[in-house]
Amino acid sequence: MCGILGYTGNRQASEILLNGLAKLEYRGYDSAGLAVMNDGKIMIEKNKGRLQTLREKINNGKNILGTCGIGHTRWATHGEPSDTNAHPLWSDDLSVVAVHNGIVENYKDLKLKLTEHGYKFYSQTDTEAAVKLIDYFYKQNKNPLNAITEAIKNIEGSYCFVLLFKDFPDEVWGVRKDNPLIAGQGEGESFLASDVSAILQDTRKVYYLDNMEIVKLNKGDVRFYDSEGHAVYKKLSTVTWDSQAAEKGGFEHFMMKEIHEQAKAVKDTLHSVIKNNKIDLTDVNLNSDEIKNISQIYIIACGSAYHAGVVAQYVIEDLAKIPVRVELASEFRYRNMPLEKNSLAIIISQSGETADTLAAMRLAKNNNIKTLAIVNVVGSTIAREADKVFYTLAGPEIAVATTKAYSAQLIACYILAVEFAKVLNRIDDEKYLYLIDELNKLPEKIDEVLDEKERIKELAGSFVDSEGAFYLGRNIDYAAAMEGSLKMKEISYIHSEACAAGEMKHGPISLIERGMLIVGIMTQKNLYAKTASNMIEAKSRGGFLLSVITRGSEILREESNFIFYVPEIDDHFSASLAVIPLQLLGYYVAVARKLDVDKPRNLAKSVTVE
Ligand code: F6R
Repeated sequence: MCGILGYTGNRQASEILLNGLAKLEYRGYDSAGLAVMNDGKIMIEKNKGRLQTLREKINNGKNILGTCGIGHTRWATHGEPSDTNAHPLWSDDLSVVAVHNGIVENYKDLKLKLTEHGYKFYSQTDTEAAVKLIDYFYKQNKNPLNAITEAIKNIEGSYCFVLLFKDFPDEVWGVRKDNPLIAGQGEGESFLASDVSAILQDTRKVYYLDNMEIVKLNKGDVRFYDSEGHAVYKKLSTVTWDSQAAEKGGFEHFMMKEIHEQAKAVKDTLHSVIKNNKIDLTDVNLNSDEIKNISQIYIIACGSAYHAGVVAQYVIEDLAKIPVRVELASEFRYRNMPLEKNSLAIIISQSGETADTLAAMRLAKNNNIKTLAIVNVVGSTIAREADKVFYTLAGPEIAVATTKAYSAQLIACYILAVEFAKVLNRIDDEKYLYLIDELNKLPEKIDEVLDEKERIKELAGSFVDSEGAFYLGRNIDYAAAMEGSLKMKEISYIHSEACAAGEMKHGPISLIERGMLIVGIMTQKNLYAKTASNMIEAKSRGGFLLSVITRGSEILREESNFIFYVPEIDDHFSASLAVIPLQLLGYYVAVARKLDVDKPRNLAKSVTVE
């Protein structure tokens, strides 16, 4: 969703804000704006459109002087993208100026009440109601802390606000509820940001704010308060991600760079839990007794993380024989389903901030279900609230469409499946060592697939004008098909659908037209022939068959229009290889269509609203 930044120190704030916002633009990119204090005045610039438009307008920040300011990149929720609705928003006399991420759910009620007190509204945003509410309380005793604590008692919904108060020229204030905010500590300067990537070039020393905490920045000084205004002590952490990781590093797009970083993401995640050829979940804080007690697993996630969960379902059920249900977080949270007592909820999220996933996890916890979160972003809300955390080590992922974080999520799921199987005696030592050995081969095999990316690039040119595509597979191949199909639709804007291969004949087959792209994934040896028959049925109706098949199989050699072979690996782990050509296909089709691959329309990286 939106990207938020605050700075106070001795350097020109506008330049720091522009550079930091560039790192946050993946969170939202339909408008951008900043506000900077100088000599008791607040200067505000904002506009609809990309950050670049703002940059040009203010001459790379040179036109705005001052060393204390706030900035924003927007992903519109309330009010269309426009200059007026762009953030920052302000109170009438500019006493309070703020940027916001989240949704103020009761903004209509607040507006009504504030109108009775003489407030007028100029935007269509929910944010303006909150800013004016803070202003209302601020006017009572000119105390920013008091204004914020009083306002948040009255604001419903989720939010992160970062604020300037005109009477306090070197201070930046922030407060968060269910939306991310971190504080950075530098030498004589301090920062607030939605995520660490925005401040990594300036400092690695960060504080993670808890829910409903308030922060005050002064030059180099950072203080925290709880929602009642009492001072809170927080531990300073050091970020290990390096700032280079959030640069393009010679690739045309972040997405392609991240596709290439998958072997490393997989290797790092494997190495964090495999020691001396044994899985060691000490850091995850999961012991054998707890594993033996699990009678049911719920996997809860959204989007690609959900697709990783679907793979996990097949692998865990087959290896560990524990029943698994995979749930879309947005459905799970309102389903009111009976939950098994001795169950484990596995929550998967790259950002650790996805609103639906967080709400679903809280629901599980409220029902006394143990939660284990597979998360990429250290210190994120889901990571902090889960009972147990399995960190994926994919590093910062900037492209909106996930690739390396998904691959790392798969690894975390495989590791849990193998460990559960071992602890429950479903596999013997020999099989255990064999599976670990197979896992260790994945990074090299991922790179082997990438060595053939040019073949996919050539093919992609033929589908620039496609109107639709089907992705077919069975079991784990179906799960991989879901992810491949999402990659195609989200960045190339070509309608695509994943279909369990056996389901085609129950309806979707009627959509096949001459030349339509049919991607078949065949890596599960026991199901090769079954999916192959469904592919042939699609071909008979005019489909163009692109088959992704494990090397060594002779299946569909004649019938396919294009075959991409992936290296052999144990069938349980094959989604990690099959997904690579599918990511490449989505990427190259989008590039050939001249689309903004890293920032697809209507999307944002971290979905912190419902
Ligand atoms: C698709 C994609 C999204 C996310 C989903 C969940 O490429 O990235 O579908 O997977 O929004 O996000 P996280 O994993 O941050 O909870």
